[in-house]
This record gives sequence, C-alpha cells and structure tokens, in this order.
Amino acid sequence: MRAKPARPDNGAASGASGLIVGAVSLRDFRSYAKLDLELEPGLVLVTGPNGAGKTNLLESLHVGTQGFSPRTRADQQLVRFGRDAARIALRGDRAGVPVELEVTLELGTGKRASLNGARLRAAEQLRGEVTTLVFTPDRLVVVKGGPAARRAYFDRVLGRLSPSRAGLSAEYGAAVGQRNAALRRVAQGLSSRDALPPWNEQVSRLGAELVEGRRATASALEPGFGERAGELGLEAAGLGYAAEAPTVAELEARTERDLERGTTSIGPHLDDVAVLAGDRDLRAFGSQGEQRLAVLALLLAEAELLEERRGVWPLLLLDDVLSELDPERRRILADRLRATGQALVTSASRNALPGEPAQTIAVEQDRDGTSRAGAA
Ligand SMILES: Nc1ncnc2c1ncn2[C@@H]1O[C@H](COP(=O)(O)OP(=O)(O)OP(=O)(O)O)[C@@H](O)[C@H]1O
Ligand SMILES: [Mg+2]
Repeated sequence: MRAKPARPDNGAASGASGLIVGAVSLRDFRSYAKLDLELEPGLVLVTGPNGAGKTNLLESLHVGTQGFSPRTRADQQLVRFGRDAARIALRGDRAGVPVELEVTLELGTGKRASLNGARLRAAEQLRGEVTTLVFTPDRLVVVKGGPAARRAYFDRVLGRLSPSRAGLSAEYGAAVGQRNAALRRVAQGLSSRDALPPWNEQVSRLGAELVEGRRATASALEPGFGERAGELGLEAAGLGYAAEAPTVAELEARTERDLERGTTSIGPHLDDVAVLAGDRDLRAFGSQGEQRLAVLALLLAEAELLEERRGVWPLLLLDDVLSELDPERRRILADRLRATGQALVTSASRNALPGEPAQTIAVEQDRDGTSRAGAA
C-alpha cells in the first residue's frame, strides 16, 4: 500500500497539468439565463438553498468539459424552459496554456462543441481532451446497481487511465452484437454455420483484451481505493475481478445453446467486479453510507492514479456529498480535495466544509426561477 500524505498545495504546483477552469459563461442553461462567473483553482464551495441551482452549475461544468450531462442523456432538458438554445463557454488553463471550450445545444439541431475555436466532430470528443470525475448521489449505482453499471464504470476508468483502450469495451460489445446477429441468422436458416467462426475469433480476442484491461484497472485502483476508503472509515476495502475471457474452443462448445437463445452466453459482457469490504460484497451487504464511502474512495483513488500515470489532475465535481458525512470525514475529504487541481463541492450549508475553501460561490434563485451565482 502506498502511504501518500495529502499535499498542502494544489495540483498545479505538483507538476500535474489538469484543466483549471478560470471562467464559466452560461446562456439559457437549465435555470441560468445568463451567468458569467470566475473560478479559483483548488477547493471551491458552491452553496445556496435547495433548488437554487447548485447542481445545475456543476452539471454545466460537466457538459462544458465532457460534452454530455452526467444526469440525463436528453440534452433538450438542459435548455432553459421556453428557450431554444443553451450555451456553455469555459475559459481555463492547462499547464500555463490557455484553453477555451464551448458547447452549444439547440433544440432540434443538436449539440456542437469546439476546443480553442476549432469545431469538434462530436461533443463527446471533449472526453479525450479533458478529464472530469463526478460524484452525485446517483453514482451510488456503481456499488449498489447491477453488474452492468459496474462494468460500464470500470470500462470508463480503463479508458481514462489508458486512452488508447477507451474504445475497447464498445469494440468488444460490437463483436458480441455481430456474433449474436450471426447466431440468429443461422438459427433462422438464413446463413450457414460458417458465419460463426470469424465472430468467435473476434469475441475471444477482444474479450481477452478487455478482461486484461479490467484486471489491470482493478489492480491499479485497489491500493488507493483501500487507502482512501480506510481513512474515511471503511476498513479493508478491495476489488474482486476473477474473470477469464472465453477461448474460441469454449465459444464453439456453446454453439448449440447460443443458437437456441440467440445470444452469446459466456464472455466479459457478463462479468462483474466486486466492490468489497473484507469478505463482504458491498452491493448486497453494504449500508447506504458504506456504499457512498466506497464510491467516493473510488473517485479519489482514480484521481490520484490519473495524476501518477498521466500527469493529469481531473476536474472534480462533487454534488451533495458533505451532508451525509460526519465532521471528521468531511475534514479528511476536504484535505484530499485541497490537494487536487480543482474541485467544486456543493452544500446547502455554508459551514459544511471544515477549513476555508479557496473560493465560495453563493447560488440563489430569483422569484421567477432564474438562478444567479457569484463569489461570496
Ligand atoms: N431546463 C430548465 N429550465 C429552467 N429551470 C430548470 C431547468 N431544469 C431545471 N430547472 C430548475 O432548476 C432548479 C433546480 O436546480 P438545482 O437542481 O441545481 O438545485 P440545487 O441548488 O442543486 O438544489 P438542492 O440543494 O435541492 O440539490 C429547479 O427549480 C428546476 O425547476
Ligand atoms: Mg442539488
């Protein structure tokens, strides 16, 4: 286990080069009609009453840096009621180099994104440029949801830690899809069994790469995960991934059964990654609080790995995390967050954060439902 003290300075001083957002401009995004806000590096507290627009502000930073919302795939929900377009523009700095990001959402037309003035093919391409990690109460699904949620999560971590493998999970999924389509054609007598071997080969090869990638991800994440969880009070936290990719022979041996069902019945598209405390699987036996700590510890562990491996501090967005933690755990979390490049944390209460944040943003809502935010 690594013993690494929280750094007193922010990530920029450690040589890591994550994006530090210096200014956010919103037009007709959710409850914001017009916002022009300057942000400080380090730990930023976003505070204000329920319904004021705190989550909307964090969401705008996710959309602006990643090209999509962590809450919804329905982009039209992001456009302010009664308007037909929303715009998010961010100005920032990465290792001393200015960065400008812009995402616009138009009802009917869709989404456009640009980086330093150059239009991107798809807004989601921003993910390859900037790394943002988010915690919201919805993220508990990573621990308490079904295996699909954990697979998706660990595959995203794999892509962030090793960008050349960001497409691996989708490629493997496409191969399984093709094999399934071939199985159905064979079952319907529309093609011969000769259609299957190429897909068995692909599923086996890409499956082996994916299993290896997940294994590497789980073992890279585990020490930091155990440590961060431990200091937050969740003892002996670990990850369990004991999968093997199917060989071509194993896939062939399944042909009859797979033909009957029309699906591929073995392979990493069915795996799970166990999130553990000692021998306890937290999905089935963790309390809500323990599940929350596990998700938080995973996020902190990933942020540190990104710094170590890629020299990048991700932008951290933590929504509604403080209210559920006792004061000592809040202090530990705050110290960790102070040691990163930039982290925005929401809280309805201004005193929820132990110690001074680098900046406090106060959010409030006008009587007509429009949000305002400014440095407090
Ligand atoms: N597309 C939209 N257009 C206008 N207003 C919207 C839109 N989407 C959401 N809102 C409004 O935004 C407000 C909620 O903002 P938000 O979720 O950011 O609050 P919050 O400060 O995080 O509150 P809480 O402390 O309860 O989490 C609601 O009043 C909601 O009606
Ligand atoms: Mg909220």
